[in-house]
Amino acid sequence: MGDQYEVSEAGVEALPVPSLRWEERAEGPVLVLLDQTRLPAEEVELVCTDVPALVQAIRTLAVRGAPLLGIAGAYGVALAAARGFGVDEAAEALAGARPTAVNLAYGVRRAAAAYRDAVRGGAAPENAAAAALAEARTVHTEDIEASSRMAEHGLALLGELLPGGGHRILTHCNTGALVSGGEGTALAVALAAHRAGELRRLWVDETRPLLQGARLTAYEASRTGMAYTVLTDGAAGSLFAAGEVDAVLIGADRIAADGAVANKVGSYPLAVLARYHHVPFVVVAPTSTVDLETVEGSDIEVEQRPGHEVTELSLGYARGAGAEIVGGIGVAPVGAQAYNPAFDVTPPELVTAIVTEAGVVSPITRDGLAEMCSTSRWS
Ligand code: MRU
Repeated sequence: MGDQYEVSEAGVEALPVPSLRWEERAEGPVLVLLDQTRLPAEEVELVCTDVPALVQAIRTLAVRGAPLLGIAGAYGVALAAARGFGVDEAAEALAGARPTAVNLAYGVRRAAAAYRDAVRGGAAPENAAAAALAEARTVHTEDIEASSRMAEHGLALLGELLPGGGHRILTHCNTGALVSGGEGTALAVALAAHRAGELRRLWVDETRPLLQGARLTAYEASRTGMAYTVLTDGAAGSLFAAGEVDAVLIGADRIAADGAVANKVGSYPLAVLARYHHVPFVVVAPTSTVDLETVEGSDIEVEQRPGHEVTELSLGYARGAGAEIVGGIGVAPVGAQAYNPAFDVTPPELVTAIVTEAGVVSPITRDGLAEMCSTSRWS
C-alpha cells in the first residue's frame, strides 16, 4: 500500500460506441444497442426497430445491467409510441422482460406516464410520442449525471475506508459503461480510483455462468488501462485469505427498503467472505435502484434462468438478440438438472456502505436509506 502505481495511458473510453443510442432514420426511429452477447470478440451493433426485438434483446442480455435496462425500457416505450404501436401493451411487455432489476420498470413507467399525460392533455399522437421520447432522454441524461456523482462519492469513501491509496478492489459481474449512459456504478468508482492513481489492481470475478466479468468488465478495464486480473468465482476465497483484497465494490439490481441488495449471483458469498476477512463490502447504485416498496430482501423476485446456461458453456449461447438461443459446449451429462438463479440477495448487515448519486449510507438503516432517496433530485 502507498506505492506509486502505473497509470496506463492506454485508452480513455471504456467503449468504442455508446452502449445504447436512439437514432432517427428515414424508415422511422430505431434503438441501436452494442450487442453485449458478442463482446469481447466482436463489437457489433444491434438495431431494434420494434418492441418485440427490444424485449428479446433484454431477455438474451444483449442489453443488460440495471441502469441501462431502465434507459432501454424508457426508449422502448418511446419507440412504440413513435411507430404507432400500443403503448400500454409495449410497457407491459418491456417491464416484464426481466423481473429483478427495478430500474427496468422504473424507466418504462416514466416514459409511459409522460405519454399518457400528454394524451390526457389532448396531445396529438406525434406530440404524445415526442413527450415519451423527451422523458426517455431525461432518464438517460440523469443516469449519466448519477454515474459521475457516484464515482465522486465512491472515490471519497474509498479514501476514508482505505487511507494510503493503492487499492486492490474485487468486483463481480459488470457495472461499467456497458450498464449505463455514463461510466457506470461500481466500475465507475474503480475507474475514478485508477485515474487518481489509487488503483493498484482490479480483481475481476469471471461471473459464471454468462461471464459478465471475464467478457465485459475485463473488456472495459483493458480499454481504460486499469491493471486487472480475472479469476474464477471460486478463487475469491483464497484471494481474501492471502490478504490481497482491500475492498469489494459491486452494483445492484434492486435494493429493498431494509437495505438488502439483490445483485448478480455470487455477490452474497463475496459479502460473507468480506465480513469474515474484515474487508469493506460497498454497493454502488443510483437511487433509481432503491425500491422502497419492496419491504425486505426476501420480497425481491430473483430471476431464474434456463439451466443450459450452466450445463453448457454459453459462449455463443445467443447469436444476437434476433436469433434463436442455441446450445454451447456441454459440460455436464445430457439431462443434468441445473440451479440457475441470476441474482442473490445480500442482507443489509453484511453491507458496509451504499453509495448513490445522492451520497453514502453507512451503516445501513431503513431510515438512512429512505432519507437519502428523499433528498435525491430525481426521487
Ligand atoms: O444479468 P445482468 O448481467 O443484467 O446482471 C447485472 C448485474 O447484476 C449488475 O451487477 C447490476 O445490474 C448492477 S450494474 C449497475
